[in-house]
Amino acid sequence: MTDPTPDLWRRVDTYLTDTLVGHEPGLERAVADQNDAGLPAIEVAPVNGKLLHLIARISGARRVLEVGTLGGYSTIWLARGVPDDGRVVTIEAEPHIADLARANLDRAGVGAKVEIRRGRGADVLPTLVDEEPFDLVFIDADKESNTIYLDWAARLGRPGTVVVVDNTVRGGEVANPATENPQIIGVQRGLEMLGRDPRFEATALQTLDAKGYDGIAIALVV
Ligand code: DHB
Ligand code: MG
Repeated sequence: MTDPTPDLWRRVDTYLTDTLVGHEPGLERAVADQNDAGLPAIEVAPVNGKLLHLIARISGARRVLEVGTLGGYSTIWLARGVPDDGRVVTIEAEPHIADLARANLDRAGVGAKVEIRRGRGADVLPTLVDEEPFDLVFIDADKESNTIYLDWAARLGRPGTVVVVDNTVRGGEVANPATENPQIIGVQRGLEMLGRDPRFEATALQTLDAKGYDGIAIALVV
């Protein structure tokens, strides 16, 4: 087998997306509005969004916590994976981005299931301690804070809670021990924590999709 060229893996991603994910207006308009607003196109790829959706359903999640809303693309996928009386609590630090996400979520028909908590993750997460534990946590915000978010994921979860971390490969830079990029260092610290912290059992996969070469970590709170 030959190593995939970018042209090949992009064609494969398109094929998989067309074959298994499809195209749905609520999701695609959320991305279009996010792009029109000048936000970075760093939402998860469609195949990854559907994976989050399936993880929510496979785990029977009723309460989902997301750190990093952006335009609400992954939030829509997650919200569609919880039952009608389920909840997605999503944290967004930038007020104008939270406003855009609110509009996207409402238009996609999942507004009633989603609470947007405005503020930085490290400030908002401690305010959730008195709520029912979360069944699924998706971490997709500033990478420098990944260890803080993982610590809160364990504290706000329960044994059996699933934790997914986006952007764990970063074009391969994660394997560079000499990196001085604070985001990469944040990703490395997060993965090291998942490997060492007895609260978690974890693995990670490299991904090649519409967003390029990156990866996701998946952990279980034990
Ligand atoms: C980038 C991608 C992401 O998915 C993210 O959460 C943050 C940054 C990026 O490509 O820069
Ligand atoms: Mg991301």
